[in-house]
Amino acid sequence: MGISSEVKDDIFIRTIVPNIFTSDYEDSNSDSEEDYLESEFEYKSNPTLENYSDNNKIVIQHLTSTSRELVGLQVWRGAFLLGDFILHHVQQFKDKNVVELASGVGLTSIVASKVAKQVVATDVNRGNILPLLESNIKKNSACDENKTCDKVKVCELDFFWDNYSNELFKNLQDSDIILAADVVYIESVTRNFVKTLRQIFQISSKSKVCYIAIEKRCEAKKGGEIIAPMFEFFESCVQELHNAEINDKKVLVEQLSIDFPKYFVYTRVAELTLWKISYG
Ligand SMILES: C[S@@+](CC[C@H](N)C(=O)[O-])C[C@H]1O[C@@H](n2cnc3c(N)ncnc32)[C@H](O)[C@@H]1O
Repeated sequence: MGISSEVKDDIFIRTIVPNIFTSDYEDSNSDSEEDYLESEFEYKSNPTLENYSDNNKIVIQHLTSTSRELVGLQVWRGAFLLGDFILHHVQQFKDKNVVELASGVGLTSIVASKVAKQVVATDVNRGNILPLLESNIKKNSACDENKTCDKVKVCELDFFWDNYSNELFKNLQDSDIILAADVVYIESVTRNFVKTLRQIFQISSKSKVCYIAIEKRCEAKKGGEIIAPMFEFFESCVQELHNAEINDKKVLVEQLSIDFPKYFVYTRVAELTLWKISYG
């Protein structure tokens, strides 16, 4: 059965392509050329970027339904939340080396490239995920006169790895900011995502901060009790990192408020959460 991102319910995508909600589309689980949509995601300007002429839109090719293995071919709300966060905290990202884990179609990395010094967008090498990420970055470079996307490098990174290639190792070591959106939906992926954060800290003498956007997905138990098992599992994994000492540096985990302004058009549901994990 196909899995669809909650973004599909957001009114703006309905406006762009009215026919994606037909049952034929829902059942589709393939990723042939014609299933891909090209959506323009507009965002408001941040007055801090005053002297910067921006086209205020990101063009993304994506699917609206995939198998669980290929959810990276869709856009998820967490990517917009991180996009908003970056656009609202421009000074924090200015001149920084950013690595995004599980970039999917690349929306967050593309936003980060507007302000950061360098961005490394990573994901698993599965299906069309890395080629689509690469082509979305090229597409946005082509339609943006500032060519900020030229600062984005795509690299394979699997949370299940214990070792990294020399180039990736160096990029992780040099990073100032790590980003990740919507990586909590399967227990093994969640566990290995948090393990990856720990590994990145272990190989780095440089302090860093991670911003992680997670949508809390709730379900009802037979008796009617509402639970969010994956989210609770994530909380328990990051709790183990909290206060850990790695290379004489302290790891601190905190949940941030999401009451900063919205720049993108999407539904900022109460289930969206934002986490900050600082190292050093
Ligand atoms: C729900 S999608 C979120 C994609 C994107 N961050 C967004 O918010 O639109 C989950 C992402 O986790 C990635 N992922 C799944 N397993 C992974 C693994 N073992 N290592 C790294 N990334 C993985 C998927 O490929 C996908 O890009």
